Amino acid sequence: VRNVGILGMEIYFPKQYVDQQELETFDGVSAGKYTIGLGQHRMAFCDDREDINSMSLTVVQNLLSNYQIPITSIGRLEVGTETIIDKSKSVKTVLMQLFSPHNNEIEGIDTTNACYGGTSALFNAVNWVQSENWDGRLAIVVAGDIAIYAPGNARPTGGAGCVAMLVGPGAPIVLESGHRSTFMDHTWDFYKPDFGSEYPFVDGKLSASCYLNAIDHCYRKYIDRFEKSHGMAPHSATLSDFDYFCFHSPYTKLVQKAFARLGFIDFLRSHQPGKWAKIGRVEDPMKVDDPSFDKDVEKTFVAMTEDLFKSKVDPSLLAARELGNMYAGSLYGGLVSLLSEVKPDQLVGKRIGLFSYGSGLSSSMFSLRVVAPPTDIHGALSDFRARLSSRTRVDPAAFDATMQRRERTHGKKGYAPVGKIDGLFPGTFYLENVDERFRRSYGRC
Ligand code: ACO
Repeated sequence: VRNVGILGMEIYFPKQYVDQQELETFDGVSAGKYTIGLGQHRMAFCDDREDINSMSLTVVQNLLSNYQIPITSIGRLEVGTETIIDKSKSVKTVLMQLFSPHNNEIEGIDTTNACYGGTSALFNAVNWVQSENWDGRLAIVVAGDIAIYAPGNARPTGGAGCVAMLVGPGAPIVLESGHRSTFMDHTWDFYKPDFGSEYPFVDGKLSASCYLNAIDHCYRKYIDRFEKSHGMAPHSATLSDFDYFCFHSPYTKLVQKAFARLGFIDFLRSHQPGKWAKIGRVEDPMKVDDPSFDKDVEKTFVAMTEDLFKSKVDPSLLAARELGNMYAGSLYGGLVSLLSEVKPDQLVGKRIGLFSYGSGLSSSMFSLRVVAPPTDIHGALSDFRARLSSRTRVDPAAFDATMQRRERTHGKKGYAPVGKIDGLFPGTFYLENVDERFRRSYGRC
């Protein structure tokens, strides 16, 4: 099977958002902390009408109808999410409502580890198409979450949204083989042990350093393999071998630092110790296990990579700035942004590097190659900016009240949501009721 990769993409996000500048004032922090310090503009959020099931139903239904996919042509469907509302019943089985009774033979189930589940699901889907068990049909991968934090310094790094991808052979955007790298470890940077709450336990500083350490390991392995598979001299591959990058984005400032870190690794690999003396004061610059990124070095490399960041990374950050962290959906929201912002012809022949990170921790770096103009995908996503700007701004006090309501009603049975249905985008699935046996039913507007 040739050219296995992405044939279609769709993104769903809630119609309401809170403005980060207004949130700075409401939270009483210094002006610019969220907008400049974290690099976030707006944050999408859900009221009690939406949950991970409803968002996934909406994005899959939109993918099926926008690309006119017959439901019998799907042989695999899996979901990457950490928004758990049932310890047994998967989101995937809820999505079977869109296929049953015409197609009940669809492999795949949910995958969870923080923001990494979507990547594991994508790898599974591609592996399936490339395997002996492939039956000739297509796969759908869903990646998304409702990311919310308790009041405090993590709250502005929330967000919400879901991405669906159609995977199969003959794709314009192909997953490259042979270079992919993975770094996994046992850490307590972010986890959700309390099933009675939607909020994680998070050590923000530790999570950012785990993220940077993970990208460090992944990039070094990826680039070594890249050099070997292309017959290149050791240490000759650099950032310039990628045309674009998409990163998991907890907040866009961290992405800029991560990109600068890649520039720093290129510099270390180039073995120019003379230059080093002028740039940093890290004692052992080759020590990869030290996640701390000396502030001077960080500043220097953020400045040195600024132009490259603008051309290679910035086009992928639209969703992250406007929606916030979609956890499992964040990296793929980056790809949606890139494919909607850059013209299909301009992408042909280009390599897109992707970095996926899930706390706890799991991470991978892999790449996509655009082998034909992704015209259908660009067309399907062409209203992305218009949809973003047609949203409703909700003031921070009302956002806060909505979060409090979610806290009170999380995991309740015999509950009828009170959120307004006319506040949703047309065609959105919404939670109608949770009955006395916790069974959730959905309507569509
Ligand atoms: N104007 C401009 N910049 C400002 C301002 C201001 N008024 N005020 C602060 N800043 C800068 C700071 O200097 C800092 O910059 P630096 O990172 O370059 O040092 C930045 O804004 C953030 O300020 P801090 O004081 O460090 O922020 P705080 O500690 O309050 O919280 C954090 C930030 C830790 C990211 C928090 O929001 C959090 O815990 N988020 C959730 C965890 C997370 O997203 N982790 C990432 C990976 S894991 C994952 O995806 C969930």
